[in-house]
Amino acid sequence: MQTVKLGAAGPEVSTLGLGCMGMSPGIYGPTDDAESVATIRAAIEAGITSIDTGDFYGMGHNEMLIRRALEGTPRSSVVISVKFGALRDPAGGWGGNDGRPQAVKNFLAYTLRRLGTDYVDIYRPARLDPAVPIEDTIGAIADMVRAGYVRHIGLSEAGAETIRRAHAVHPICDLQIEYSLMSRGIETAILPATRQRGIAITAYGVLSRGLLSGRVPSRETKGDIRVIRMPRFAQGNVEQNLKLVEALRLIGEQKDATPAQLAVAWVRSRGRDIVPVIGARRREQLKEALGALELSLDAGDLARIAAAVSPDITAGARYDAVQMAHLDSEAHP
Ligand SMILES: NC(=O)c1ccc[n+]([C@@H]2O[C@H](COP(=O)([O-])OP(=O)(O)OC[C@H]3O[C@@H](n4cnc5c(N)ncnc54)[C@H](OP(=O)(O)O)[C@@H]3O)[C@@H](O)[C@H]2O)c1
Repeated sequence: MQTVKLGAAGPEVSTLGLGCMGMSPGIYGPTDDAESVATIRAAIEAGITSIDTGDFYGMGHNEMLIRRALEGTPRSSVVISVKFGALRDPAGGWGGNDGRPQAVKNFLAYTLRRLGTDYVDIYRPARLDPAVPIEDTIGAIADMVRAGYVRHIGLSEAGAETIRRAHAVHPICDLQIEYSLMSRGIETAILPATRQRGIAITAYGVLSRGLLSGRVPSRETKGDIRVIRMPRFAQGNVEQNLKLVEALRLIGEQKDATPAQLAVAWVRSRGRDIVPVIGARRREQLKEALGALELSLDAGDLARIAAAVSPDITAGARYDAVQMAHLDSEAHP
């Protein structure tokens, strides 16, 4: 597995990361802790060094799962990225975002306990708190860097102006944001803003949450946000989107590659500063995603892939209107 420096200010990471969100209940339907732990361990064995989580994924469950999976792995051999700030309630509801300095330190204290570690490699607010200037939130994380509890600072779903303001307070190593064949919004203003400052992109939703694998959850799946509220999975849209994936499958046939592998390879082809964070939650999915690293695609292949699935022929936005309203990257790209 090759590695790359994550932005001018960041750590060395594998060129593919593992995102663990879907391993916690209430996100992509039923989960299996034993398989999740096995998947994280298989990823590390395969050379993946970068693991992404959020303290609100399963309300602490995700961090505790990662702690279990990493037992016996030297702490210094993995880069753990943690998002914080989203407020939950006991029933799993969402209560906005808290970016106040004292909240940052409180979230971090609990995260360190749950992960069983004394530092987080990359700490980032998941969304902006509209009541708190980004300078204050980043300033509080910078205090935690100086105190040794955090190594690097990242952002998530931030727009160009927020990136500029945050980076002026403390060097930002990466922006975590959705980027895929279906979601290319960052190319207009955000990518130029990160590149100008030596900030890397950790791309999520590279498979548009599984859609680009051609395997979609059934409408009966309980507790799956894709079925409940994601526009691209809504009836009417999903059928249209699966037609695009079929076009990708046909291209893949000539390359001995699955649609998911082409989708990962396309994102990787967009620049060495872009590191996909893949959401595999089973070993077979991980194996498929790792297969994308072996593909060799020329400019003609990449152009055909980009034309087969593109944002203008994709049905549905990447989030519903309520979630979109929390995205600084959409409101102030
Ligand atoms: N910063 C943010 O705002 C933000 C938002 C969302 C996610 N993230 C992070 O990014 C990570 C990845 O995001 P994501 O899960 O939405 O994106 P994704 O990688 O596009 O989708 C992952 C889902 O695709 C399906 N899948 C099918 N084949 C797969 C394969 N070969 N490899 C991997 N997945 C396959 C799986 O669902 P089934 O098992 O149901 O088939 C899996 O849960 C998350 O775990 C999280 O750490 C960050």
